[in-house]
Amino acid sequence: MFENLRFPLIAAPMAGGPTTPELVAAVSAAGGFGFLAGGYLTADALDEKIATTAELTGGAFGVNLFLPGARSAADLTAHRERLLAEAIRYGVELGEPRWDDDAYPAKLAVVIERRVPVVSFTFGAPAAEEVRRLHDVGSQVVVTVTNPDEAVLAASSGADALCVQGFEAGGHRSLFADDPGSPAGGEQYGLLALLRLVAAKVTLPLIAAGGLVHGADIAAVLAAGAVAAQLGTVFLQADEAGTPLAQRHALAAGDRRTAFTRAFSGRPARGLVNRVLSDLSADAPAAYPQLHHLSKPVRAASAKAGDPEAMSLWAGQTYPLAPAGPAASIVDRLRAEAREALSRVERLR
Ligand SMILES: Cc1cc2nc3c(=O)[nH]c(=O)nc-3n(C[C@H](O)[C@H](O)[C@H](O)COP(=O)(O)O)c2cc1C
Repeated sequence: MFENLRFPLIAAPMAGGPTTPELVAAVSAAGGFGFLAGGYLTADALDEKIATTAELTGGAFGVNLFLPGARSAADLTAHRERLLAEAIRYGVELGEPRWDDDAYPAKLAVVIERRVPVVSFTFGAPAAEEVRRLHDVGSQVVVTVTNPDEAVLAASSGADALCVQGFEAGGHRSLFADDPGSPAGGEQYGLLALLRLVAAKVTLPLIAAGGLVHGADIAAVLAAGAVAAQLGTVFLQADEAGTPLAQRHALAAGDRRTAFTRAFSGRPARGLVNRVLSDLSADAPAAYPQLHHLSKPVRAASAKAGDPEAMSLWAGQTYPLAPAGPAASIVDRLRAEAREALSRVERLR
């Protein structure tokens, strides 16, 4: 699937703003492989982004979709009360905490219609019949997994490859099911441990994701058996990324911890610690996407005010080392570092 890449580097899909057609195109032009983020978009908006990206790239890119989860019956009253104080602070009203399917069936129809070469899935595995529909139009299917059991389930759906997401990763954990009893939604596996455990269970090609920020990290996961490395945070400060300014500043300062939280969306995700993450994470209910919709006006107002304290500042553990600048220069740097790392280990021969 990624055999023809000059450099087996994938720019992770980053929904909510950071991924732009320009970022995808720049990474692809530099020899990597870009992914559009389909999450949160309407089907029409996704269709438009695919068309724009196709014009910019000539077609070599993927699209990521969120699978809908079960409707949570968790009580949102206390969380709503706490978020209300934030809404009042920014002079906005809270959103409607509704469940929805993220327009999944319509967006699946769009990627099938557009014959997107690689379609990746997050928060679960598509049904075998959906995989068949994608295969019928020549698309390849990647499923993101966070533990060995999910890898087995994904393989049984007919996926062509797995994206193995370690707990170091920025953004949402791609858990198939969120365990409300666990702050991280389930067991946490470091990337190298998870690659090894998954490789022992399935024979599919593996893409490694989570905390990779240097070319030597890419060389390391390739040495560990991955066919490609998927990096998100390393591109958050790229010129072509749509990352909000307040988030760019917080990333560049590099002085915050990262932690998992359900406070913004109702699903565990890793981000920089800010006021809302510190104050509202402990009792945040497992209710995705209800909390996503509930907190949306607060997050938007915080971003608009240039204030990082009530935004979801998704980023992986190694974010202080992520560079800024044109995406092509980031890809070039990673490639040079990977080559150097490989020549260092040559002496093992
Ligand atoms: C801001 C941000 C948004 C993300 N959005 C998505 C998404 O829409 N779909 C997805 O599959 N993964 C998403 N991820 C996770 C990435 O696919 C990947 O697992 C992660 O970026 C790897 O860790 P790293 O950020 O340390 O490189 C996101 C990550 C970040 C940082």
